[in-house]
Amino acid sequence: MAARVPIALDWTYLHPHLTPEQIERWAPKARLCHEMLHEGICPGSDFRGWLDPRAIISPEELAKVKDLAKRLRDTADVMVSVGIGGSYLGARAVLEALQRPGEAPNVLFAGKDLSAHSHAALLRALEDKEFCVNVISKSGTTVEPAIAFRLLRDLLVRSLGEERARGRIVATTDASKGILRRLATQEGYQTLAVPGAVGGRYSVLSAVGLLPICFARIDVEALLAGAADCADACLDADLAANPAYFYAAARNALFSRGFRVEILANFEPRLHYFAEWWKQLFAESEGKDGTGIFPTAVDFTTDLHSLGQWIQQGQRLAFETFLHLDLEPEVQTIPYVPEDTDELNYLAGKSLHEVNMQAYRGTALAHHEGGVPNMTISLPTLDAYNLGALIYFFEKACAVSGCLLGINPFNQPGVEHYKRNMFALLRKPGAESEAERVLGTLAAQERAIVRFA
Ligand code: PA5
Repeated sequence: MAARVPIALDWTYLHPHLTPEQIERWAPKARLCHEMLHEGICPGSDFRGWLDPRAIISPEELAKVKDLAKRLRDTADVMVSVGIGGSYLGARAVLEALQRPGEAPNVLFAGKDLSAHSHAALLRALEDKEFCVNVISKSGTTVEPAIAFRLLRDLLVRSLGEERARGRIVATTDASKGILRRLATQEGYQTLAVPGAVGGRYSVLSAVGLLPICFARIDVEALLAGAADCADACLDADLAANPAYFYAAARNALFSRGFRVEILANFEPRLHYFAEWWKQLFAESEGKDGTGIFPTAVDFTTDLHSLGQWIQQGQRLAFETFLHLDLEPEVQTIPYVPEDTDELNYLAGKSLHEVNMQAYRGTALAHHEGGVPNMTISLPTLDAYNLGALIYFFEKACAVSGCLLGINPFNQPGVEHYKRNMFALLRKPGAESEAERVLGTLAAQERAIVRFA
């Protein structure tokens, strides 16, 4: 096991809902899932390209990413990273966690919704900026990033002309197929390849996530080293010696006892998008075949004043996983005020991090006392190395958890349904027969509407 692996899992508060013996009962199944995953005989085994973080990106491809990021930074102050789902959330999670607010170079995100308002606001904000565009779509056909890219390309061409605009565009897509690859070849854009064996939500440590991360000057080597060390530490087939498998088994054991919802709780607002990435990873991986834990997330202490009430005393169907940082390098000390009118002098001289930590300890205990099983995943601090380790920890846990659940954690067939209906309604060529079905269904439905006079 690598010496530097930083993650610790405290499962004290799973008791009395789960005993060590009850978790241990999952050990043979976890071992089997481990073997299936590592031997390539699990469902979706073609999508295990993330399993070895040392191989997810070749040294040549990494050098290309770094070179491209540098060249883009030479001409642009802002990168617009265009993508949705797994082509978006990993980079955003890393940037929000590690970049200080307002720190240049800036990365903005587009192609993640169809809101006219957000697109108009983005285009307005870019009008006086030197920006470049990284359009990311593995399939090359996803409509949200395709529309955003069309709008951004139009703005770039209008302000720079065809030739200069071309130099500001990178397409990250499948190595050989898809509309985006075809467009990039035709237009002569710079390109990066999404590895075929890596699905979107497992792709943050590939070129998909690394170009925007590199553009923002975040230490990608440290990120990859953290992931690689964590991979070494998550190689034991025995869940007692493998925190990722222990976590996977614990959440499945809780699920089988009626705890249907997992709440990922952080005490650091800069982990908000990490939780968004985590939600996508687990929701798309496990929510299928009529099963799957519902993953949701809270930002504490903010949400202790809203969802906290439900967690403490609402229906008992959720368990919690806390993300905890041992150390916060940012020091903010609470000052002493002689008059003590606000009666806060009992905190004078303490760091805000310490107060936050006691809020965490008090919350974990309160929720335990309120009947919410919870565990805590601790990191020494939040930096690129530790974040890389945490990313890999959840990826590995998710793959094994999905296997324990009996589903294929690497596909997302359910996502297609809304697309089929939407394309039918938009009269996309090729969707004619589907249009007939969708329009027929809608016409046959009696709308149930209450109107306010
Ligand atoms: O995890 C996934 O595979 C999905 O969330 C995809 O990343 C998302 O649907 C975007 O797909 P694409 O990169 O093909 O545009």
